[in-house]
Amino acid sequence: MSIQNVLRMGHPILQQLARPVRDASAPEIQQLIHDLRDTMRAHHGAGLAAPQIGQSVQVVIYGTGAPNPRYPEAPTIAETILMNPSLEPIGTETESGWEGCLSVPGLRGEVRRWKRLRIQALDSRGQELERVLEGFEARVVQHECDHLNGILFPQKLTSNQRFGYIEELITSGQIPEVPG
Ligand code: NI
Repeated sequence: MSIQNVLRMGHPILQQLARPVRDASAPEIQQLIHDLRDTMRAHHGAGLAAPQIGQSVQVVIYGTGAPNPRYPEAPTIAETILMNPSLEPIGTETESGWEGCLSVPGLRGEVRRWKRLRIQALDSRGQELERVLEGFEARVVQHECDHLNGILFPQKLTSNQRFGYIEELITSGQIPEVPG
């Protein structure tokens, strides 16, 4: 088990374009997947991207197969690894929702995302994976893939007013009560 330090907003690696994975079976990529899994679980993240643990490569993980205490109202999502992902919106419908990020601790902001999309990627064994996603899972994937393009959610707020510390947002009734 290898829980890694999570870089916070302001670290230059979080602003870089991540490089594609060339060989999914390479030991360093498989180790990276283990580290992402351990670190995401330790922090109860909904997802985690490799740049967040200091590796500028196109690998993300999301879902734990169990309810997430940081997002108690969200559906349970099976653990999924995506390498070299590409996203394509289906239709033009969008929805706004509150997001957090382990690289932006203590804060939440409202972000507009595509409601439905098709993803193409390689899975943890380097096999082609294609899925159609919607709702919360589509939101998580868009958030994680943004990390691979050097983008954090505060750069995509619906409004500068829809952003703040979790406790203040709960106290003022802007978001429901959620832990951490
Ligand atoms: Ni994030």
